[in-house]
Amino acid sequence: MSNIVLIAAVAQNRVIGHNGGLPWKFPEYEIFYKQKIRDHVAIMGSKTFESLDQEIPTKFNIVLSQKNKFCQKLMCSKTEIFNNLQFAIDRAKIIEGASTKPEDRKKIFILGGSGIYKKCMKIADEIIITKIDKDFDGDIFFPEIPSSIFKPVYIDRELLAEKPNSFNYRFEYYRRCQTLPS
Ligand SMILES: NC(=O)c1ccc[n+]([C@@H]2O[C@H](COP(=O)([O-])OP(=O)(O)OC[C@H]3O[C@@H](n4cnc5c(N)ncnc54)[C@H](OP(=O)(O)O)[C@@H]3O)[C@@H](O)[C@H]2O)c1
Repeated sequence: MSNIVLIAAVAQNRVIGHNGGLPWKFPEYEIFYKQKIRDHVAIMGSKTFESLDQEIPTKFNIVLSQKNKFCQKLMCSKTEIFNNLQFAIDRAKIIEGASTKPEDRKKIFILGGSGIYKKCMKIADEIIITKIDKDFDGDIFFPEIPSSIFKPVYIDRELLAEKPNSFNYRFEYYRRCQTLPS
């Protein structure tokens, strides 16, 4: 079994993206999320994949796209394209493999964007939000986390970004406590 984990940085007004990229410069988050997804399988939409300016340290990437010829120049050897979310998740589970020890449960990370977070909220086991204590202008939003289904299990103290004129943020970890009604 693998846990499905949504991971995102989210502004106070739920903004996550602007003009195809991130609305902020947030090096602390880059370090945090790369450490989390390191050596796991990641699933993301084609726009999120295109927005990444550097290789991410995953074991394998699965990109969702309806376009056969999506982004050939960006494709690297550890990336596959799927046009169906369920097939993508099935493939991710195979690549991630199984663990015999509960404490070493495998994780599949969902990297966004908005529609994929929303669909995967129905099947996710965990959500890791880096909550930014500030509103941003943007055009892509993180969906509401249903409080009857996900409970916060750990919320970090407020941290101050290391650069001057930056913003406060905290890490919020949620875990599923009930299955969604179908
Ligand atoms: N703050 C954060 O943590 C965070 C995280 C992720 C992304 N972002 C930001 O969010 C924005 C990108 O997100 P987005 O919501 O606009 O786009 P997205 O979800 O990354 O990509 C959307 C595209 O993915 C494909 N797709 C989505 N669902 C699919 C499905 N079920 N089956 C097959 N293909 C599917 C389609 O690709 P085709 O058009 O190729 O068919 C669709 O146009 C950027 O601004 C990015 O910087 C922020």
